[in-house]
Amino acid sequence: MSQLYELSEVAVQNGKNGKPCWLIIKGNVYDVTKFLSEHPGGGEVLLEYGGKDATKAFKQAGHSADAEKELKNYKIGEINSAAPIQIQPTSIAASKPAENTISEDPKPAEKSSSGFCCC
Ligand code: HEM
Repeated sequence: MSQLYELSEVAVQNGKNGKPCWLIIKGNVYDVTKFLSEHPGGGEVLLEYGGKDATKAFKQAGHSADAEKELKNYKIGEINSAAPIQIQPTSIAASKPAENTISEDPKPAEKSSSGFCCC
């Protein structure tokens, strides 16, 4: 099973201040720290995307099939995209019973307010 990372965890590994340089390509997380000095396109372009999603840049650079194969040497895991999707339905479901209980309140309130008309 692949290690799952949050976007925020990857974001801090930006290659700055002696930190490792991780980047995201097609939902996978790569540690390119040791590859910085070997990359034919230079280490600077990798550092530019340190901690970020480099999917577009990787495609736009027109990498060869060999470069695509090389990706797997640096893969350390995947982005955990399931977590935020799971949170939404539970919060919506939890709010339903609360709405029902509120809707019962206005009726007795209306009756009591009409009884207090004393002008
Ligand atoms: C782990 C990720 C990456 C790997 C394994 C990788 C690998 C390679 C390889 C093997 C080449 C030689 C040409 C080829 O075979 O296509 C190359 C060239 C190049 N790469 Fe990457 N690359 C990665 C990420 C990136 C990223 C994020 C960029 C961002 C812009 C980039 C920009 C370039 C450029 C501009 C060249 C062309 C260099 C030249 O021909 O002068 N690469 N890369």
